[in-house]
Amino acid sequence: MILTVLHSATKKPVLWIFAFLGFFIFSMIAEVWAGSPMGHGRRHNSRAFQGHHGQGFLGEGICPQIRKTVQAPDNILTQSNPLEKNRENIYAGESLFQIEVQPTACKICHGVTGNGLGIMAQGLNPPPRNFTCRSTMESISDGQLFWVIRNGSPGTGMPAFKSLKDREIWKIVHYIRKLSTKKR
Ligand code: HEC
Repeated sequence: MILTVLHSATKKPVLWIFAFLGFFIFSMIAEVWAGSPMGHGRRHNSRAFQGHHGQGFLGEGICPQIRKTVQAPDNILTQSNPLEKNRENIYAGESLFQIEVQPTACKICHGVTGNGLGIMAQGLNPPPRNFTCRSTMESISDGQLFWVIRNGSPGTGMPAFKSLKDREIWKIVHYIRKLSTKKR
């Protein structure tokens, strides 16, 4: 049957249009039945999937955040980011944050969107910093961010990342800063 259709389709181009329409309608029915495909910014197509595959939770997170993190030594606290804030550096920071950093990518705790609601955030007290919260982030200097990434925050879930190179940390700092430019 399909072969006959295909056979005559080569002769009658109009049949291709019907075949295409058929597939189009089928895909619409499939989408209604199975849910829409996940595209950019739509990592969860239903609330039941929140927390699936280490993506963490969506939402805005806690803002402003109570912050008791130890302060970096003065000379580091006042240091500004030596790297240019260009696309390459921000993108490199993003890759490190989301995927590359060992042993645990930052997103696992800080969330894919930086909202502090990563898959491992549950049960952490104090909770991971919400990088999308502008009012809290404005009170933290670049040097402070650098220092905590390198040394961790003792007594909290924030580990030290000793194996990261200085340049890698500064790239991450550029990326983290970008997360609070859009929202609150
Ligand atoms: C295992 C969970 C976990 C991972 C992985 C993690 N963090 Fe954190 N992070 C935390 C927690 C918890 C805090 C809150 C610490 C505090 O309140 O002192 C925090 C706080 C921070 C802060 C705030 C510092 C400040 O002075 O307020 C920065 C910056 C930070 N993390 C960056 C990173 C980066 C970059 C990575 C990846 C390289 C990362 N974190 C990976 C849990 C994590």
